[in-house]
Amino acid sequence: MEKQTIAVLGGTGPQGKGLAYRFAKHGHSVIIGSRDEARGAETVAEIQARLGSASEVTAAANSAAAEAADVVVIAVPYKGHAPLLTEIASVLRGKVVIDCVNPLAFDQKGPHSLDVEERSAAEECQRLVPEAQVTGAFHLVSAVNLWSEDEYLDHEDILVCGDDKDAKAVVAELAATVSGRLGVDVGPLRMARYIEPLTAMIISINKKYKVRAGITISGLENSPLLQQAVPAS
Ligand SMILES: NC(=O)c1ccc[n+]([C@@H]2O[C@H](COP(=O)([O-])OP(=O)(O)OC[C@H]3O[C@@H](n4cnc5c(N)ncnc54)[C@H](OP(=O)(O)O)[C@@H]3O)[C@@H](O)[C@H]2O)c1
Repeated sequence: MEKQTIAVLGGTGPQGKGLAYRFAKHGHSVIIGSRDEARGAETVAEIQARLGSASEVTAAANSAAAEAADVVVIAVPYKGHAPLLTEIASVLRGKVVIDCVNPLAFDQKGPHSLDVEERSAAEECQRLVPEAQVTGAFHLVSAVNLWSEDEYLDHEDILVCGDDKDAKAVVAELAATVSGRLGVDVGPLRMARYIEPLTAMIISINKKYKVRAGITISGLENSPLLQQAVPAS
């Protein structure tokens, strides 16, 4: 696929770092966004220790990272989601945004989803940055698996939702750097209402069976529309 410049905001956390690693491994230029310069530099060093110093990974403050990128991944905890998006809304204008934020909390019974006014974090993102092409993706893939040295996480599908066809196509191709195949277009952005809470169920399964479970959509191999993505080398 076409080489992208991708900012991963919250890229110092396990999810952002794992996604950044997968994108950089396939030749994309990645900027780790952080509120803290030293943490950003540390994450760059960790990824380059894996991929070599020739890999294109740099760090910057969240806003500067977003400004320099074509594609921006939002990988901060839900409590930081609206404040971050409000702060950088003008910078995100016209960009493809990938929101992977799961509004979750934990109580004595385990994980559960939070009530979000817009019904999903991804829709909240679109409200806060109306001029960005917002998609939802990578909600159900575990950070531990992303950071593993498995070539592809080909036991799972990456579900992609969004209202902009072109943005979804970009994200579906980026998904191939993780799963080895195109992300699955599950429909409009509002499908995030169903994807984000599923994470609570996956965490519950993980706890019960001591695994890192994922979601695979069956039957797609019969689709006449399916094309295999070839990740950038
Ligand atoms: N962990 C997983 O397996 C997983 C799987 C799927 C989806 N997700 C979603 O991905 C997102 C990130 O997950 P994570 O586990 O990587 O989270 P995390 O470690 O708690 O946070 C990620 C990074 O976000 C920044 N951050 C923390 N609080 C913030 C705030 N209030 N405002 C702005 N930035 C803040 C921090 O970076 P700096 O201090 O460097 O700025 C932190 O390193 C979450 O929304 C989660 O639901 C996680």
